[in-house]
Amino acid sequence: MPTYTLRINGKAHDVEAEPDDTLLSVLRDDLDMTGSRYGCGEGQCGSCTVLVDNRAMRSCVAKVSAVTKAQIVTIEGLATGDTLHPVQQAFLEVEAFQCGYCTSGMVMATVALLRTNPSPTEADIVKALDRNVCRCGTYPRIVKAVKLAAERLRGATPATAQEARR
Ligand code: FES
Ligand code: FES
Repeated sequence: MPTYTLRINGKAHDVEAEPDDTLLSVLRDDLDMTGSRYGCGEGQCGSCTVLVDNRAMRSCVAKVSAVTKAQIVTIEGLATGDTLHPVQQAFLEVEAFQCGYCTSGMVMATVALLRTNPSPTEADIVKALDRNVCRCGTYPRIVKAVKLAAERLRGATPATAQEARR
């Protein structure tokens, strides 16, 4: 089996894998990074979303051999020490989850969105997260969390989580 070097969350990891193995299976099964979730396994639900060179990518359909030159960021790499990333913090404060299964994918898709569009309208948010499925139906709170995170990342007067929840 070939060995691939993957750059994940700023560190190089050597993994033995078949070329067609998915990035998600390598993350979860070989590297014990289980924050990226297996939902549909077909690129349809978004629960496995990670950043590959700053763009949201569905790791369940990304072949490991195709991402060896990329900088990969997973949900495990967002926080700085004990300080959550502003998107994680906003999701937490707004309680933008119920079971939490979709949350890491939603957070990663949001980080990618806010990198390219720091001031998304509600329509922009809905469109960007359209293919991320939340079976618990927490979409209204997810949209509020994205707005709160966007405000904070822009350095606009931060809304309180209480205000954001209304
Ligand atoms: S598990 Fe990857 S998109 Fe559903
Ligand atoms: S919080 Fe349960 S699937 Fe989204």
